[in-house]
Amino acid sequence: MDQQTNKPLVEVRHLKEYFDVTTGLFRSKPLKAVDDVSFSIMRGETLGLVGESGCGKTTVGRTMLHLYKPTAGEILFDGKPVKTKQEIMEYRKHATMVFQDPYSSLNPRMTVSDIIGEPLDIHKAYASKEERSAKILELMEHVGLNSEHAARYAHEFSGGQRQRIGIARALAMNPDFIVCDEPVSALDVSIQAQVINMFYELQQKFGLTYLFIAHDLLVVRHISNRIAVMYLGKMVELADAAEIYEHPLHPYSKSLMSAVPVPDPKIARENKRIVLTGDIPSPLNAPSGCPFRTRCPYASEECACSMPEFKEVRKGHFVACHRLAEIN
Ligand SMILES: Nc1ncnc2c1ncn2[C@@H]1O[C@H](COP(=O)(O)OP(=O)(O)O)[C@@H](O)[C@H]1O
Ligand code: SF4
Ligand SMILES: [Mg+2]
Repeated sequence: MDQQTNKPLVEVRHLKEYFDVTTGLFRSKPLKAVDDVSFSIMRGETLGLVGESGCGKTTVGRTMLHLYKPTAGEILFDGKPVKTKQEIMEYRKHATMVFQDPYSSLNPRMTVSDIIGEPLDIHKAYASKEERSAKILELMEHVGLNSEHAARYAHEFSGGQRQRIGIARALAMNPDFIVCDEPVSALDVSIQAQVINMFYELQQKFGLTYLFIAHDLLVVRHISNRIAVMYLGKMVELADAAEIYEHPLHPYSKSLMSAVPVPDPKIARENKRIVLTGDIPSPLNAPSGCPFRTRCPYASEECACSMPEFKEVRKGHFVACHRLAEIN
């Protein structure tokens, strides 16, 4: 966090990811999982990405890494576009992902050593067997695993230990950028803080840049420099972490905030409580205009007619809402 710079490492511009979904015998419809999202992450920064399940967080992360081909939009790494096959191959050496569920993302029939060594094998990143083993042991040390664990199988470990294995694997190619997709939400609450601290320490040690995804604002609070809030495939607010905690401007961010216990009563009073009713609509039948309007207590006619622009309303604070003046 302290190593944050002002130079963007990864940028996405007007990113869209639409999935073709069958809706009838010969009919299909685009499911707009990510719909025109733009942001950048500075080198050394952690950008927290939050929103309810199904709002498109994982798809943003996967598309940013070119694990899905973007439907539209640009991805830039270190100022250069990542588009051609060759550019994508090169980018993959620098950018990787830690998955949400350490139970299903690690092959239970592989040893810890082979799981961590797999990226080294794929990229032929060693000259001898000895060098491979030494690299694997070093990676295990970085995440607090010891050498006796190397020959054991992933299924023998607890969730927290498995996530350490997943993180060691992600570090194998000395990446610059890691998409951390809800890396602690499958873990016991008692060990979540430990694993988050480890992400932070690794960031300090290796100058890593993170997109840190969570559905819970509390999880990203301490690790994030800035926080972005998504709703139904769109970004609705983005600001410095402290700013978004103390002065959330979008009604959806306010509702997420009001679910978080705030220790400061002054801030708690200022954040008008908004308790949402109803479920998040399906992205296959997204509302016209503002995607949040079916659950927003402030929705007006204008909100049904046009999509509010995502614009900067204070320095570095972006929001998409027509009625900020009335609400705040
Ligand atoms: N491979 C896919 N094919 C079709 N629909 C998908 C696919 N992946 C995700 N979706 C849909 O896209 C939307 C966003 O999903 P996702 O990015 O996983 O959200 P989140 O990570 O915020 O829970 C959801 O409606 C989900 O059902
Ligand atoms: S644009 Fe309208 S519906 Fe959307 S968040 Fe703002 S007030 Fe609510
Ligand atoms: Mg997800």
